[in-house]
Formats: sequence, C-alpha cells, structure tokens
Amino acid sequence: MNPIELGPIEIARGVHWIGALDPDLREFDIILKTANGTTYNAYCVRGSDGVAVIDTVKENRAADFFARLEQVAAYDEIKAIVLNHLEPDHTGALPELMRRAPNARLYISIKAQIMLKGLLKSEELVYTPARTGDTVSLGDRHLRFLHTPFLHWPDTQCTWLEEDGILFSGDVFGCHYCDPRLFNDKVGDFRFSFEYYYQHIMRPFREHVLDALELIEPLALNLIAPAHGPILRDAPANYVRRYRQLAEPTLYNEAGGHAKTLLVFYLSSYGNTARMAQAVRDGAEAIDGVRVSVYDLQGGEVAPFVDLVEEADGIVFGSPTINGDAVKPVWDLLSSLTMVNVKEKLGAAFGSYGWSGEAVTMLEDRMRGLKLRVPVKGVRVKLIPTEAELSLCHAFGRDLALHLTGQATRKVITMEELNRSQTHA
Ligand code: FEO
Repeated sequence: MNPIELGPIEIARGVHWIGALDPDLREFDIILKTANGTTYNAYCVRGSDGVAVIDTVKENRAADFFARLEQVAAYDEIKAIVLNHLEPDHTGALPELMRRAPNARLYISIKAQIMLKGLLKSEELVYTPARTGDTVSLGDRHLRFLHTPFLHWPDTQCTWLEEDGILFSGDVFGCHYCDPRLFNDKVGDFRFSFEYYYQHIMRPFREHVLDALELIEPLALNLIAPAHGPILRDAPANYVRRYRQLAEPTLYNEAGGHAKTLLVFYLSSYGNTARMAQAVRDGAEAIDGVRVSVYDLQGGEVAPFVDLVEEADGIVFGSPTINGDAVKPVWDLLSSLTMVNVKEKLGAAFGSYGWSGEAVTMLEDRMRGLKLRVPVKGVRVKLIPTEAELSLCHAFGRDLALHLTGQATRKVITMEELNRSQTHA
C-alpha cells in the first residue's frame, strides 16, 4: 500500500492514528540504524466536549498528518494539543497545527517549557505545563498526564486516556519499524527493533525507566500507543514487563552489593602498562570491601565490557601513549559508554609512555566529559616502571579503593586544578 494513501486508522472508538509513515528512512538522528524505516505516530481523541491531538510528526511528513487529521476532526473542534516529547520528529507540524487550531490549548510537561521556547523561538507562547495526575477533560473522556522525565529527554511524559485504558507513551515502548498494518498483531516480527531501540535510546536512563514503570505498571492497559513503530494492542502488558526486565541489572552481581566493584581495563605494547595494572590491582585489593577485576582489552569484545561497566562502581583505564594518543581499543570502549549511565562512577587512568605521555590526561578529560568523577590524579611512568614507580601505582590503586569505600575525603579534580598542576610540574 502506498503509505500516503493510508487513511486515519481507528485504534479505539473515536480514537484515531493520524501519524505518518517513513518507510525509506535507514538512519535516524544519524546514530540509529533502521532496516524498516520508522513511523511518527500521532493520535486524535474525540470526546463529547472536544477533540485532543496527541503529538504531531516530523516536518517533512506534515502534509500526511494534516490530511489524516482533517478526515476525523475540524480544526475548530480541537481544544487540546498534547506533546509528550518535543524532539522535532514529533513537533515538526506543531507551529502549523497551532495556527490552524486557534481554540486549542497546548499541554506539555513542566520540564518542556524552556525547550518549547527554543523550538518555537517565541517568548509569548500560551501553554499549560502538566504534572503527574493533572487531567484534561474532553467531556466523557479524560486525559491524565504521567511525568516520565528522561525517557529519553528531560521533557518526556506519557498521557493516559482513562476511560479506554490507552497509554500514549511517546518514545517509551516505541521502535523504528514501519509497517502500514500498524498493529503489533498484524505487522512483521519487530522484536529486534524494539530491543535495539531500548538499548540505544532508553538504556542510558535506566533509573528513570524504573521510575516510570512505577507509574505505568499499576495501569489497567488495553493498548499502548507509542510515538514510533507498532501500536501495541495485543498483550500490551508484556511490553511493560519486558521494559522491567531490560531495566534490571544485566549481570548477576556475585559481590551481592556488599563490595564496591572496581574494573581495571588496560592495553600494553611491551608489558609496562600491564605491570602497572597489576600494581594498581594489588593496591586496591589491599582495602577491604572492594572487589577488583583486571581485563586486557586486547582479548575482549566491547559489548560485555559495557555490561560490566554499567554495574561497576569505578573504572580505571591503563593505556600507553602512542603518537600522542591513547590507543584505539580504549577509545572504543569509552565511546560505547554513552549507552549506559556512568554519571558519578569513579574514573581514573594510568599508563606508560615513551616521550610525551598525553594518554592519561586525555582519558581523564574524556571521563569527566562523561560525568564520571575523577578524584585521584593519574599515574604516568616513562617506559619501564621502577619498583618505586610500581609502589606509586600500588598507592594509586589504594587511593581509588579508599574513595570507593568512602574512606577518603572526596575530592574531584577540576580541569582548572589539573591545568595548574601540569603548569607547575
Ligand atoms: Fe522520537 Fe525522541 O523523539
């Protein structure tokens, strides 16, 4: 079927899908692959006292959206426009919709207000900020808001149609998968896309997913209407359960939460950084309550290490400096950590070098950029570590363990302090 010919689809009595299909898209936001394109789902809810439009579509699909909307409602009937999320794939048609529907009031989450001004470039916007529990009456139907921030932007919320048990969930429970048959019991197998979307979009905000599930799990769900991908009318609670599973820790923690976990990742050309890694390990292990693990990045894949880091309390990178840089496998792992939440984990770096030794500082900077705390200045050793230098590494490991166990005065080294110390060295 030509996607443009698809009309509005009734998903419940008086509730229509009026979104847009984008079957040829292969990359979303530069970072996500999609073998099946995507959909920008928007919905129209008719009540006895007015109509609500929930979300819009990407700007280049606005014509499809308006064509579908006009088949189920007149613009002057629209009393509420709800935006669950302000990213442009859902707000591209908003300015034009507000122009065409002058009687409509705009509802956004309390955290979306600044973004809305940035999006519409106007200080004179009229809107209602919504909190969890706030409602909009359409007469015989009511929309209730659930504040679900950081899924996956600070502004995100879900909207619950009380009388029908429909959750308009925004990006949550969505995926990039376009199939004009629309419903999860009709479309092809989209499980891989659902999981991929979770891993890349929701996983970094795992704690917020768990908070949102506390609000969503008690709902008597008849249907989940996400902003992308299939509409989940068959067994919607299964998708909520799957989110719960995905948001729980990936790995069984043998330390049982009693010990702090410190991971030491290293690479070594001539065994020098490896010897430093062993000394760091020995130093950290000297402190009770810390479980230290050492991994040679040369022998590992990135994905399981990312799982390990997600559960760890601290990570230490050992890298030689080659051509003024840390080595690629270290950067590969660091760049993959954007998939998980590493904020406030302890970070540190060390390494042997030949003549310049920039790697340690570069790694520390990157970890600060990822919002790790870097409380102990890294250790750099020129070429082969002496016994005295290995003792420094041992003390460095010990310091890290003391910070992890809360026995050291917490001190986060700032960029200014770091620059000062390097200038005076
Ligand atoms: Fe589908 Fe985060 O926008």
